[in-house]
Amino acid sequence: MAKKCADLDAFKFDQSEQTIDTNKKIRIGIIGTGGIAEAHLQKYLEMPDVEIVAGADLVEGKAAAFFEKYGVTGAKCFKDHKELIDAGICDAVSICTYNATHAECAIYALEHGVHVLLEKPMCVTLNEAVAICKAEKASGKILTIGFQPRFDANMKMVKEIVKSGALGKIYYIQTGGGRRHGIPGRESFLKADTGVTGAMGDIGCYSLDMVLNAIGYPKPLTVSGYTSDYFGKDPDYHVSGGYPAERAEIFGVDDFSAAFIRLEGDIILDFRIAWAMHLDTPGDTIIMGTKGSLRIPSTECWNGSIGGPLKLYQRVAGTDVCIEFPMAAPNKHDNFYLKIRSFLDAVKNGGKAPVPTSEIIINQAIIDAVHTSARLGREVEVSIPEI
Ligand SMILES: NC(=O)c1ccc[n+]([C@@H]2O[C@H](COP(=O)([O-])OP(=O)(O)OC[C@H]3O[C@@H](n4cnc5c(N)ncnc54)[C@H](O)[C@@H]3O)[C@@H](O)[C@H]2O)c1
Repeated sequence: MAKKCADLDAFKFDQSEQTIDTNKKIRIGIIGTGGIAEAHLQKYLEMPDVEIVAGADLVEGKAAAFFEKYGVTGAKCFKDHKELIDAGICDAVSICTYNATHAECAIYALEHGVHVLLEKPMCVTLNEAVAICKAEKASGKILTIGFQPRFDANMKMVKEIVKSGALGKIYYIQTGGGRRHGIPGRESFLKADTGVTGAMGDIGCYSLDMVLNAIGYPKPLTVSGYTSDYFGKDPDYHVSGGYPAERAEIFGVDDFSAAFIRLEGDIILDFRIAWAMHLDTPGDTIIMGTKGSLRIPSTECWNGSIGGPLKLYQRVAGTDVCIEFPMAAPNKHDNFYLKIRSFLDAVKNGGKAPVPTSEIIINQAIIDAVHTSARLGREVEVSIPEI
C-alpha cells in the first residue's frame, strides 16, 4: 500500500525583495499592441527603472489607443516594427506580434542593437529559429523568450525533483493537455497567415517547455506527429461558443496535435495538446524513471499552474511509497512580473537571457517537426544546426 508523507513545509522561491537601481532607465518599445501587449505594459509600468518610449502596430491608431488606455503619455507611435526600431530610441523591445511576424521583428531589432523579449512561441519554423539565433549571436544582445510558467514555484520544484536524482534514469514522459472549449477568441490565432501554428504553437510549446526544461532540454531525434482541425472547421462549434459561424471558414491551423518524440538519451516523449475536445483532460503529465516516477496533475499544467500536489512514487525498503509535495507558497511576484523583471535585469547587468534560445530552439524544432510529420504522414528525423 502506498504510504503518504505530508510533513514537508510548503516550499518557497523568489520571496526576497529586490532593490532596483533606478539611476539608469531602460527605454522600452512595444511592438504589436494587441492582447498580450497589455500584460507587458502593465508589468513595465510597475518597474521603477523603465521608461515606455514607443509602440508600434500595423493597425492604424491601435498603438495610440493602447497607450491612452493605460494613461501613458509621451510614447511615440509607429506603423510597424521597422519604423520603431529605425527611430533609434529604444534600448529594448517586447515583441508581442502574432506568431507569423515574430522572426522578422526579432531579427530586425537584434540587427539594430536592441535587446529583445520575444513572446512565445519563438517563431513558426525551425529555419526561422535558426535565423533568429544567428542574429542574436552576431548582435551580442539579450534575447529571451516569453515562457512565464518557468517562473512558477511548482514548475521549479519539478526541475528540482528531477535534479535531485530521485527519478533515476528517465525513460518515458507523457505531457500535454489542453482545454475542452478553448479555441482563442482573437482571429490572429486562427488564421494560417498570422497564427501559422494553432494549439501546438500556442499552448503545446508550454507543455514541451515544462518537461524539457526539467530534464535539461535533450535534443529530439525523430518525431511522428499528427494534427487535426475538426472543431475549428465546424461552424456549430463557433456558434455554440457565441461566435459567428464564419470563423470556421477562416480557421487555418491545428486545434489538436499529438506526437511520439524520441529524445537523445533513450527518452520517449508522448505528447498531445488540444484547444478543443470532448474530454476534461487527456491525462496528467508523468515523468517515469528507473528509481521513481513523478505525477504532475494536469488541468492547466500546460499553462504554468498544476492541478494538485506533485506526487513522487518510489519503492523503498520493499515498500511502495508516494511522497506528496505540498503546493508551493505563491511567489512574492506573479510569473509575468518575474518574466519581465528577469529580462530587464539581464539587459542591465549584461547577464544571460533568462529563457535562452539555446533551449527554445529545441522546442521550436519539435513544433516544426510535428507539423512536417503530420503533413507528410510519416515519422521525420530532426536535425538542429549548430549556431
Ligand atoms: N505569454 C503569454 O501568456 C501569451 C498570452 C497570449 C498570447 N501570447 C503570444 O503573444 C503573441 C500575440 O498574441 P496577441 O493575443 O496579443 O495577438 P493579437 O492579434 O491581439 O496582437 C498582435 C498584434 O501585433 C500586430 N503586429 C503584427 N505584426 C506587426 C509588425 N510587424 N509590427 C507591428 N505590429 C505588428 C498586429 O497588428 C496585432 O495588433 C502571440 O504570438 C501569442 O502566442 C503570449
